[in-house]
Amino acid sequence: MFSFSRTLSFVALAGLVAGQAAEWGQCGGIGFTGATTCVAGTTCVTLNAYYSQCQPGAAAPAPTSAPQPSPTQPAGPAPSNPSTPTGPGLSSIPASTLHQITNFGANPNNIGMFVYKPARVAANPPLIVASHYCSGTAQAYFTGSKFAQLAETYGYVVLFPNSPHSGTCWDVSSDATLTHNGGGDSLGIASAARFAIANWGVDANRVFAVGTSSGAMMTSVLAGAYPDIFKAGIVDSGVAFGCFAVPGQPDDSWNSQCSTGEMILTGQQWAQKVYNAFPGYTGARPKMQVWHGTIDTTLYPQNFWEEIKQWTTVFNYPSTPISNVSEPYLPNGYSNATFGPMFQAILAQNVGHTVPLFEQQYLQFFGIA
Ligand SMILES: *[C@@H]1O[C@H](CO)[C@@H](O)[C@H](O)[C@H]1NC(C)=O
Ligand SMILES: *[C@@H]1O[C@H](CO)[C@@H](O)[C@H](O)[C@H]1NC(C)=O
Repeated sequence: MFSFSRTLSFVALAGLVAGQAAEWGQCGGIGFTGATTCVAGTTCVTLNAYYSQCQPGAAAPAPTSAPQPSPTQPAGPAPSNPSTPTGPGLSSIPASTLHQITNFGANPNNIGMFVYKPARVAANPPLIVASHYCSGTAQAYFTGSKFAQLAETYGYVVLFPNSPHSGTCWDVSSDATLTHNGGGDSLGIASAARFAIANWGVDANRVFAVGTSSGAMMTSVLAGAYPDIFKAGIVDSGVAFGCFAVPGQPDDSWNSQCSTGEMILTGQQWAQKVYNAFPGYTGARPKMQVWHGTIDTTLYPQNFWEEIKQWTTVFNYPSTPISNVSEPYLPNGYSNATFGPMFQAILAQNVGHTVPLFEQQYLQFFGIA
Protein backbone atom coordinates (compact mmCIF):
# COMPACT_ATOMS: atom_id res chain seq x y z
CA MET A 1 0.00 0.00 0.00
CA PHE A 2 2.74 2.40 0.98
CA SER A 3 4.78 1.82 -2.16
CA PHE A 4 1.66 1.98 -4.31
CA SER A 5 0.68 5.46 -3.13
CA ARG A 6 4.28 6.57 -3.25
CA THR A 7 4.41 5.50 -6.88
CA LEU A 8 1.28 7.49 -7.58
CA SER A 9 2.59 10.65 -5.98
CA PHE A 10 5.93 10.24 -7.74
CA VAL A 11 4.14 10.10 -11.04
CA ALA A 12 2.07 13.15 -10.13
CA LEU A 13 5.04 15.15 -8.86
CA ALA A 14 7.28 14.31 -11.73
CA GLY A 15 4.53 15.34 -14.13
CA LEU A 16 5.22 12.53 -16.56
CA VAL A 17 3.27 13.43 -19.65
CA ALA A 18 2.44 9.98 -20.88
CA GLY A 19 1.73 8.29 -17.51
CA GLN A 20 1.73 4.53 -17.69
CA ALA A 21 1.41 2.46 -20.82
CA ALA A 22 -1.86 0.54 -21.16
CA GLU A 23 -2.21 -3.23 -21.27
CA TRP A 24 -0.88 -4.40 -24.69
CA GLY A 25 0.55 -0.88 -25.18
CA GLN A 26 4.14 -0.14 -26.14
CA CYS A 27 6.54 0.51 -23.25
CA GLY A 28 9.94 0.64 -24.91
CA GLY A 29 12.09 -0.01 -27.97
CA ILE A 30 14.50 1.85 -30.21
CA GLY A 31 13.13 5.30 -30.95
CA PHE A 32 10.24 4.99 -28.51
CA THR A 33 9.62 8.10 -26.42
CA GLY A 34 6.43 7.24 -24.49
CA ALA A 35 5.87 5.84 -21.03
CA THR A 36 8.10 2.94 -20.07
CA THR A 37 6.12 1.78 -17.05
CA CYS A 38 3.02 -0.35 -17.38
CA VAL A 39 -0.38 -0.17 -15.70
CA ALA A 40 -0.90 -2.38 -12.66
CA GLY A 41 -1.23 -6.07 -13.40
CA THR A 42 0.95 -5.90 -16.50
CA THR A 43 4.68 -6.12 -17.10
CA CYS A 44 6.83 -4.54 -19.75
CA VAL A 45 8.16 -7.39 -21.94
CA THR A 46 10.85 -6.88 -24.58
CA LEU A 47 9.58 -8.44 -27.82
CA ASN A 48 12.36 -7.19 -30.04
CA ALA A 49 14.82 -4.31 -30.26
CA TYR A 50 12.09 -2.00 -31.51
CA TYR A 51 9.22 -3.02 -29.36
CA SER A 52 8.48 -3.71 -25.72
CA GLN A 53 4.94 -4.24 -24.59
CA CYS A 54 2.81 -4.24 -21.41
CA GLN A 55 1.57 -7.79 -21.13
CA PRO A 56 -0.78 -9.21 -18.51
CA GLY A 57 0.98 -10.76 -15.53
CA ALA A 58 4.31 -10.12 -13.91
CA ALA A 59 6.58 -12.89 -15.19
CA ALA A 60 9.23 -11.32 -17.37
CA PRO A 61 12.27 -9.29 -16.34
CA ALA A 62 12.12 -5.52 -16.73
CA PRO A 63 13.25 -4.35 -20.16
CA THR A 64 15.74 -1.92 -18.68
CA SER A 65 17.81 -4.86 -17.46
CA ALA A 66 17.66 -6.69 -20.78
CA PRO A 67 20.70 -6.57 -23.06
CA GLN A 68 20.33 -4.24 -26.03
CA PRO A 69 20.33 -6.43 -29.15
CA SER A 70 21.48 -5.06 -32.49
CA PRO A 71 18.65 -4.36 -34.91
CA THR A 72 19.56 -7.28 -37.15
CA GLN A 73 19.58 -9.74 -34.27
CA PRO A 74 16.26 -9.30 -32.51
CA ALA A 75 15.97 -10.52 -28.95
CA GLY A 76 14.51 -13.95 -28.55
CA PRO A 77 12.74 -16.00 -27.59
CA ALA A 78 9.33 -14.55 -28.38
CA PRO A 79 6.80 -14.55 -25.53
CA SER A 80 4.53 -17.55 -25.24
CA ASN A 81 1.09 -17.42 -26.78
CA PRO A 82 -1.72 -15.75 -24.84
CA SER A 83 -3.99 -18.44 -23.44
CA THR A 84 -6.70 -19.72 -25.75
CA PRO A 85 -10.06 -20.06 -23.99
CA THR A 86 -12.04 -23.26 -24.02
CA GLY A 87 -15.29 -22.55 -25.80
CA PRO A 88 -18.30 -24.18 -27.43
CA GLY A 89 -17.63 -26.58 -30.29
CA LEU A 90 -18.64 -26.16 -33.90
CA SER A 91 -21.97 -27.88 -33.23
CA SER A 92 -23.09 -24.81 -31.27
CA ILE A 93 -22.67 -22.59 -34.32
CA PRO A 94 -25.68 -22.21 -36.62
CA ALA A 95 -24.98 -23.53 -40.14
CA SER A 96 -25.05 -21.58 -43.37
CA THR A 97 -25.33 -18.14 -41.85
CA LEU A 98 -22.89 -15.45 -40.78
CA HIS A 99 -22.60 -15.81 -37.01
CA GLN A 100 -20.72 -13.58 -34.57
CA ILE A 101 -18.43 -15.10 -31.97
CA THR A 102 -16.96 -13.46 -28.86
CA ASN A 103 -14.55 -14.48 -26.09
CA PHE A 104 -12.14 -16.18 -28.47
CA GLY A 105 -8.99 -15.01 -26.69
CA ALA A 106 -6.64 -12.02 -26.58
CA ASN A 107 -8.23 -9.28 -28.66
CA PRO A 108 -6.72 -5.97 -27.52
CA ASN A 109 -8.38 -3.85 -30.23
CA ASN A 110 -11.74 -5.55 -29.81
CA ILE A 111 -12.08 -6.54 -33.46
CA GLY A 112 -15.34 -8.20 -34.44
CA MET A 113 -15.29 -11.84 -35.50
CA PHE A 114 -17.81 -13.75 -37.56
CA VAL A 115 -17.82 -17.40 -38.60
CA TYR A 116 -19.46 -19.13 -41.52
CA LYS A 117 -20.00 -22.85 -41.00
CA PRO A 118 -21.35 -24.79 -44.00
CA ALA A 119 -24.17 -27.31 -43.66
CA ARG A 120 -21.72 -30.20 -44.09
CA VAL A 121 -18.38 -29.62 -42.41
CA ALA A 122 -15.42 -31.70 -43.60
CA ALA A 123 -13.67 -33.88 -41.01
CA ASN A 124 -10.92 -31.76 -39.43
CA PRO A 125 -11.93 -28.89 -41.66
CA PRO A 126 -9.59 -26.33 -43.16
CA LEU A 127 -10.03 -22.74 -41.95
CA ILE A 128 -9.93 -19.67 -44.17
CA VAL A 129 -9.63 -16.19 -42.65
CA ALA A 130 -11.07 -13.71 -45.16
CA SER A 131 -10.27 -10.05 -44.37
CA HIS A 132 -12.27 -7.21 -45.87
CA TYR A 133 -11.08 -4.06 -47.67
CA CYS A 134 -11.11 -0.49 -46.24
CA SER A 135 -14.64 0.80 -45.65
CA GLY A 136 -15.74 -2.83 -45.79
CA THR A 137 -17.18 -5.08 -43.12
CA ALA A 138 -17.26 -8.79 -42.41
CA GLN A 139 -20.83 -8.78 -43.72
CA ALA A 140 -19.87 -7.00 -46.94
CA TYR A 141 -16.98 -9.36 -47.68
CA PHE A 142 -19.20 -12.33 -46.86
CA THR A 143 -21.86 -11.24 -49.36
CA GLY A 144 -19.39 -9.88 -51.91
CA SER A 145 -17.27 -13.03 -52.21
CA LYS A 146 -17.81 -16.73 -52.87
CA PHE A 147 -15.84 -17.93 -49.85
CA ALA A 148 -18.99 -18.87 -47.94
CA GLN A 149 -20.79 -20.33 -50.95
CA LEU A 150 -17.81 -22.55 -51.81
CA ALA A 151 -17.58 -23.68 -48.18
CA GLU A 152 -20.87 -25.48 -48.82
CA THR A 153 -19.09 -27.51 -51.52
CA TYR A 154 -15.76 -28.11 -49.83
CA GLY A 155 -16.68 -28.18 -46.13
CA TYR A 156 -14.16 -25.67 -44.79
CA VAL A 157 -14.94 -23.05 -42.15
CA VAL A 158 -14.56 -19.31 -42.82
CA LEU A 159 -13.72 -16.56 -40.36
CA PHE A 160 -14.68 -13.05 -41.45
CA PRO A 161 -13.02 -10.53 -39.09
CA ASN A 162 -14.55 -7.06 -38.77
CA SER A 163 -12.34 -4.00 -38.35
CA PRO A 164 -13.09 -1.85 -35.28
CA HIS A 165 -11.60 1.36 -36.72
CA SER A 166 -13.65 4.37 -37.83
CA GLY A 167 -12.58 4.18 -41.46
CA THR A 168 -12.76 0.39 -41.07
CA CYS A 169 -9.30 -0.12 -42.53
CA TRP A 170 -7.25 -2.70 -40.68
CA ASP A 171 -4.43 -1.96 -38.28
CA VAL A 172 -1.53 -2.92 -40.52
CA SER A 173 0.75 -0.11 -39.36
CA SER A 174 1.32 -0.38 -35.59
CA ASP A 175 4.37 -1.98 -34.02
CA ALA A 176 1.99 -4.18 -32.07
CA THR A 177 0.18 -5.61 -35.08
CA LEU A 178 3.48 -6.20 -36.89
CA THR A 179 4.88 -8.21 -33.96
CA HIS A 180 4.12 -11.85 -33.14
CA ASN A 181 1.77 -11.89 -30.13
CA GLY A 182 2.36 -8.16 -29.97
CA GLY A 183 -1.24 -7.02 -29.96
CA GLY A 184 -3.15 -4.88 -32.46
CA ASP A 185 -5.75 -6.22 -34.85
CA SER A 186 -3.55 -9.09 -35.98
CA LEU A 187 -3.47 -10.64 -32.49
CA GLY A 188 -7.28 -10.63 -32.41
CA ILE A 189 -7.37 -12.54 -35.70
CA ALA A 190 -4.62 -14.92 -34.58
CA SER A 191 -6.55 -15.59 -31.36
CA ALA A 192 -9.69 -16.49 -33.31
CA ALA A 193 -7.69 -18.91 -35.47
CA ARG A 194 -6.15 -20.47 -32.35
CA PHE A 195 -9.62 -20.69 -30.83
CA ALA A 196 -10.92 -22.50 -33.94
CA ILE A 197 -8.05 -24.98 -33.80
CA ALA A 198 -8.51 -25.61 -30.08
CA ASN A 199 -12.30 -25.87 -29.99
CA TRP A 200 -13.64 -26.66 -33.44
CA GLY A 201 -11.39 -29.49 -34.62
CA VAL A 202 -9.92 -27.29 -37.34
CA ASP A 203 -6.86 -28.85 -38.96
CA ALA A 204 -3.91 -26.76 -37.74
CA ASN A 205 -2.05 -27.65 -40.92
CA ARG A 206 -4.76 -26.12 -43.10
CA VAL A 207 -5.26 -22.62 -41.74
CA PHE A 208 -5.16 -20.00 -44.48
CA ALA A 209 -5.55 -16.25 -44.95
CA VAL A 210 -6.86 -14.21 -47.84
CA GLY A 211 -7.90 -10.59 -48.17
CA THR A 212 -8.48 -7.68 -50.49
CA SER A 213 -6.79 -4.26 -50.26
CA SER A 214 -6.59 -3.42 -46.53
CA GLY A 215 -7.48 -7.08 -45.96
CA ALA A 216 -4.67 -8.02 -48.33
CA MET A 217 -2.29 -5.95 -46.24
CA MET A 218 -3.64 -7.74 -43.17
CA THR A 219 -2.99 -11.05 -44.90
CA SER A 220 0.66 -10.00 -45.37
CA VAL A 221 0.74 -9.04 -41.69
CA LEU A 222 -0.65 -12.43 -40.63
CA ALA A 223 1.77 -14.27 -42.90
CA GLY A 224 4.73 -12.32 -41.57
CA ALA A 225 3.87 -12.16 -37.87
CA TYR A 226 2.07 -15.50 -37.45
CA PRO A 227 3.85 -17.99 -39.72
CA ASP A 228 3.24 -20.61 -37.02
CA ILE A 229 -0.53 -20.35 -37.57
CA PHE A 230 -1.02 -19.58 -41.26
CA LYS A 231 0.11 -22.08 -43.86
CA ALA A 232 -0.68 -19.99 -46.92
CA GLY A 233 -1.72 -16.44 -47.76
CA ILE A 234 -3.31 -14.81 -50.78
CA VAL A 235 -2.78 -11.08 -51.06
CA ASP A 236 -5.21 -9.40 -53.47
CA SER A 237 -3.95 -5.90 -54.20
CA GLY A 238 -1.93 -5.35 -51.02
CA VAL A 239 1.61 -4.47 -49.99
CA ALA A 240 4.69 -6.18 -48.59
CA PHE A 241 4.78 -7.07 -44.89
CA GLY A 242 5.81 -4.01 -42.89
CA CYS A 243 5.40 -1.54 -45.77
CA PHE A 244 2.57 0.27 -44.02
CA ALA A 245 4.38 0.61 -40.69
CA VAL A 246 3.74 3.97 -38.99
CA PRO A 247 5.26 3.59 -35.52
CA GLY A 248 3.67 5.56 -32.70
CA GLN A 249 0.59 6.64 -34.67
CA PRO A 250 -3.03 5.44 -34.39
CA ASP A 251 -3.49 1.80 -35.27
CA ASP A 252 -5.16 2.23 -38.63
CA SER A 253 -2.85 4.96 -39.93
CA TRP A 254 -2.40 5.36 -43.68
CA ASN A 255 1.15 5.24 -45.04
CA SER A 256 1.17 7.23 -48.25
CA GLN A 257 4.85 6.57 -48.90
CA CYS A 258 3.97 2.89 -49.13
CA SER A 259 0.65 3.28 -50.90
CA THR A 260 2.17 5.37 -53.68
CA GLY A 261 4.92 2.82 -54.24
CA GLU A 262 7.74 4.99 -52.92
CA MET A 263 8.76 2.55 -50.19
CA ILE A 264 11.50 0.83 -52.13
CA LEU A 265 13.80 -1.53 -50.25
CA THR A 266 16.12 -4.40 -51.06
CA GLY A 267 14.90 -7.95 -50.73
CA GLN A 268 17.14 -8.35 -47.69
CA GLN A 269 15.64 -5.29 -46.02
CA TRP A 270 12.12 -6.56 -46.70
CA ALA A 271 12.96 -10.03 -45.46
CA GLN A 272 14.45 -8.54 -42.30
CA LYS A 273 11.07 -7.00 -41.49
CA VAL A 274 9.55 -10.46 -41.66
CA TYR A 275 12.27 -11.95 -39.45
CA ASN A 276 11.96 -9.11 -36.92
CA ALA A 277 8.23 -9.79 -36.58
CA PHE A 278 8.87 -13.11 -34.87
CA PRO A 279 12.38 -13.26 -33.43
CA GLY A 280 13.77 -16.74 -33.07
CA TYR A 281 11.19 -18.38 -35.34
CA THR A 282 12.79 -21.03 -37.50
CA GLY A 283 9.76 -22.98 -38.74
CA ALA A 284 8.14 -23.01 -42.16
CA ARG A 285 6.77 -19.83 -43.73
CA PRO A 286 3.33 -19.70 -45.32
CA LYS A 287 3.31 -20.06 -49.08
CA MET A 288 2.24 -16.85 -50.72
CA GLN A 289 0.31 -15.77 -53.79
CA VAL A 290 0.11 -12.06 -54.58
CA TRP A 291 -2.16 -10.41 -57.15
CA HIS A 292 -1.93 -6.80 -58.37
CA GLY A 293 -3.28 -4.60 -61.15
CA THR A 294 -0.96 -2.48 -63.30
CA ILE A 295 -3.12 0.64 -63.07
CA ASP A 296 -3.82 0.50 -59.34
CA THR A 297 -3.68 4.08 -58.04
CA THR A 298 -4.68 3.24 -54.45
CA LEU A 299 -1.80 0.86 -53.74
CA TYR A 300 0.51 1.55 -56.64
CA PRO A 301 1.82 -1.42 -58.65
CA GLN A 302 5.36 -0.85 -57.39
CA ASN A 303 4.08 -2.64 -54.30
CA PHE A 304 3.80 -5.80 -56.39
CA TRP A 305 7.51 -5.65 -57.17
CA GLU A 306 8.35 -4.95 -53.53
CA GLU A 307 6.31 -8.00 -52.48
CA ILE A 308 8.26 -10.08 -54.98
CA LYS A 309 11.56 -8.89 -53.50
CA GLN A 310 10.35 -9.70 -49.99
CA TRP A 311 9.02 -13.19 -50.49
CA THR A 312 11.65 -14.38 -52.97
CA THR A 313 14.27 -13.39 -50.39
CA VAL A 314 12.39 -15.09 -47.54
CA PHE A 315 12.10 -18.27 -49.62
CA ASN A 316 15.60 -17.93 -51.05
CA TYR A 317 14.22 -18.01 -54.58
CA PRO A 318 15.73 -16.35 -57.64
CA SER A 319 14.45 -12.82 -58.22
CA THR A 320 13.16 -13.66 -61.69
CA PRO A 321 10.35 -16.17 -62.26
CA ILE A 322 11.02 -19.74 -63.31
CA SER A 323 7.82 -19.60 -65.35
CA ASN A 324 5.53 -16.74 -66.31
CA VAL A 325 2.46 -17.68 -68.28
CA SER A 326 -1.08 -16.64 -69.05
CA GLU A 327 -3.66 -19.01 -67.56
CA PRO A 328 -6.67 -20.15 -69.58
CA TYR A 329 -9.11 -19.36 -66.78
CA LEU A 330 -7.84 -15.83 -66.26
CA PRO A 331 -8.69 -12.78 -68.41
CA ASN A 332 -6.32 -11.67 -71.17
CA GLY A 333 -3.42 -9.67 -69.81
CA TYR A 334 -3.07 -11.62 -66.56
CA SER A 335 0.34 -13.27 -66.12
CA ASN A 336 1.15 -15.90 -63.51
CA ALA A 337 4.81 -15.70 -62.50
CA THR A 338 6.05 -18.64 -60.43
CA PHE A 339 9.29 -18.22 -58.47
CA GLY A 340 9.12 -21.58 -56.72
CA PRO A 341 6.50 -23.80 -55.11
CA MET A 342 5.96 -21.34 -52.26
CA PHE A 343 5.52 -18.13 -54.21
CA GLN A 344 3.54 -16.91 -57.20
CA ALA A 345 2.87 -13.35 -58.35
CA ILE A 346 -0.02 -12.59 -60.68
CA LEU A 347 0.08 -9.26 -62.51
CA ALA A 348 -3.13 -8.05 -64.15
CA GLN A 349 -2.63 -5.65 -67.07
CA ASN A 350 -5.01 -2.68 -67.13
CA VAL A 351 -6.66 -3.65 -63.87
CA GLY A 352 -6.99 -1.02 -61.12
CA HIS A 353 -7.77 -1.33 -57.44
CA THR A 354 -8.71 -4.11 -56.82
CA VAL A 355 -8.12 -7.28 -58.82
CA PRO A 356 -11.40 -9.27 -58.86
CA LEU A 357 -11.50 -12.36 -56.66
CA PHE A 358 -10.78 -15.80 -58.14
CA GLU A 359 -11.98 -17.86 -55.20
CA GLN A 360 -12.04 -21.23 -56.91
CA GLN A 361 -8.39 -20.86 -57.88
CA TYR A 362 -7.49 -19.69 -54.35
CA LEU A 363 -8.89 -22.97 -53.04
CA GLN A 364 -6.53 -24.84 -55.34
CA PHE A 365 -3.60 -22.85 -53.98
CA PHE A 366 -4.74 -23.77 -50.46
CA GLY A 367 -4.98 -27.42 -51.48
CA ILE A 368 -8.71 -27.47 -50.68
CA ALA A 369 -10.18 -27.81 -54.21
C1 LIG B 1 5.27 -11.83 -66.54
O1 LIG B 1 5.09 -11.55 -67.92
C2 LIG B 1 4.27 -10.42 -68.18
C3 LIG B 1 4.01 -10.37 -69.68
O2 LIG B 1 5.21 -10.34 -70.36
C4 LIG B 1 4.98 -9.19 -67.67
O3 LIG B 1 4.19 -8.04 -67.92
C5 LIG B 1 5.18 -9.35 -66.17
O4 LIG B 1 5.93 -8.26 -65.70
C6 LIG B 1 5.94 -10.64 -65.87
N1 LIG B 1 5.91 -10.86 -64.43
C7 LIG B 1 7.00 -10.88 -63.66
C8 LIG B 1 6.78 -11.08 -62.21
O5 LIG B 1 8.12 -10.73 -64.10
C1 LIG C 1 0.69 -20.42 -61.58
O1 LIG C 1 1.52 -21.40 -62.12
C2 LIG C 1 1.83 -22.45 -61.23
C3 LIG C 1 2.85 -23.33 -61.91
O2 LIG C 1 2.34 -23.83 -63.09
C4 LIG C 1 0.57 -23.18 -60.86
O3 LIG C 1 0.85 -24.20 -59.94
C5 LIG C 1 -0.41 -22.20 -60.23
O4 LIG C 1 -1.65 -22.82 -59.97
C6 LIG C 1 -0.62 -21.00 -61.13
N1 LIG C 1 -1.33 -19.97 -60.38
C7 LIG C 1 -2.41 -19.41 -60.83
C8 LIG C 1 -2.94 -18.30 -60.00
O5 LIG C 1 -2.97 -19.72 -61.87
